[in-house]
Amino acid sequence: MADIARKKVVLGVTGGIAAYKAADLVRELLRNGIEVQVVMTEAARGLVAPATFQALSGKPVFTDMWDARAADNMAHIELSRGKDAIVVAPATAGFIAKLANGLADDLLSSLCLARECPLILAPAMNRQMWDNPATRRNIDQLLRDGAAILGPASGDQACGEVGMGRMLEAREIAEAVTTFLAPKSLRGARVLITAGPTFEAIDAVRGITNQSSGKMGYAAARAALEAGARVILISGPTSLAAPAGVQRVDVVSARDMFNAVKKHVVNADIFISVAAVADYHVVNPSRQKIKKTASRLKLDLAPNPDILAWVASRPRPPFCVGFAAESEHLHRYAEAKRRSKKLPLLAANLAPQAIGSDDNELTLFDDQGAHKLPRALKEVIARQLVAHIAKLYGTKKTRKL
Ligand code: CTP
Repeated sequence: MADIARKKVVLGVTGGIAAYKAADLVRELLRNGIEVQVVMTEAARGLVAPATFQALSGKPVFTDMWDARAADNMAHIELSRGKDAIVVAPATAGFIAKLANGLADDLLSSLCLARECPLILAPAMNRQMWDNPATRRNIDQLLRDGAAILGPASGDQACGEVGMGRMLEAREIAEAVTTFLAPKSLRGARVLITAGPTFEAIDAVRGITNQSSGKMGYAAARAALEAGARVILISGPTSLAAPAGVQRVDVVSARDMFNAVKKHVVNADIFISVAAVADYHVVNPSRQKIKKTASRLKLDLAPNPDILAWVASRPRPPFCVGFAAESEHLHRYAEAKRRSKKLPLLAANLAPQAIGSDDNELTLFDDQGAHKLPRALKEVIARQLVAHIAKLYGTKKTRKL
């Protein structure tokens, strides 16, 4: 199964105050399954001790060109061989100037010059340094040379000033690097995803909802984006942020979600229905808050449309993927659901274990049978799900030709 796991990067840390954020970056990259070899400049060692990076990455940290631990004493070449990228974060103005001019006077700059893999830089500097024409020239040169530049962002700076030059947060850099390295198994595909709970109003302030956090749907959106897809995420009420690059459409009720799906499904190649859609809505919800009385209150509930079943029964449906949370008889109920909704693929888990949690244990049901994915973080599971979708979707396309 194509996966981001086993990708390897050199993380170069140069001497900017933002070097402390690089420690978090190591953790974020590892969390995404990417192996990290840290190389520090002399100036960076003055800011953060190599032992910190060594402990976090689980590998010795290199600084010296002639470090005898590298094969043939060729650290400046060896360390980047077999790597998928060199990521420099933070990249100071001085280091950027060196790279733009092809200078190689320490281990990290030599590795960058001798590399065979892509170079990704996350600049960090004072706003005047960033605005300086020399830095502008250097950045333009590096872009022309094929480097990828992440950020910088605008905001409070270590020097007390406010402006452009702040390094992106570790999570943002890790997300961009992961997207960059992920196999592009869904390149060009248009993917529509529903996520989160729905909310069915009872009155002006109350409603019926469920415990879905939206994490699995958002992770699927991120994984599809990483795989090169164009992603529209139709989301019920959640507190999550959509990954940059995903088009997000916010909805509240199941009927709102249905309308949004109808609008966007026309152009979709793949539909992944992760949302925990309410099966019923309240007929005639009160416009005002219902007052408490001593008598019993009865709610009149009418069924909601089954969005996934509607999409899957269109004349030329997209490749449809359903989700099912079952409290018992997982295999029997999931396979029955897949057949009744006419789905090529359904991902099922046992509720309530998965709800709101950061990890999940999915079983995928398709025409070939059941495939159990080991328990893992929802981000990791989502990548495996997307790889499986890409495989089946690719086969379906090939069959059509
Ligand atoms: N679904 C949907 N619209 C609905 C209900 C469900 O699109 N009104 C989708 C969900 O997003 C999920 C799949 O259908 O992909 C299965 O949802 P689930 O709630 O497990 O199943 P139901 O069909 O509602 O059946 P039941 O609640 O009886 O288990």
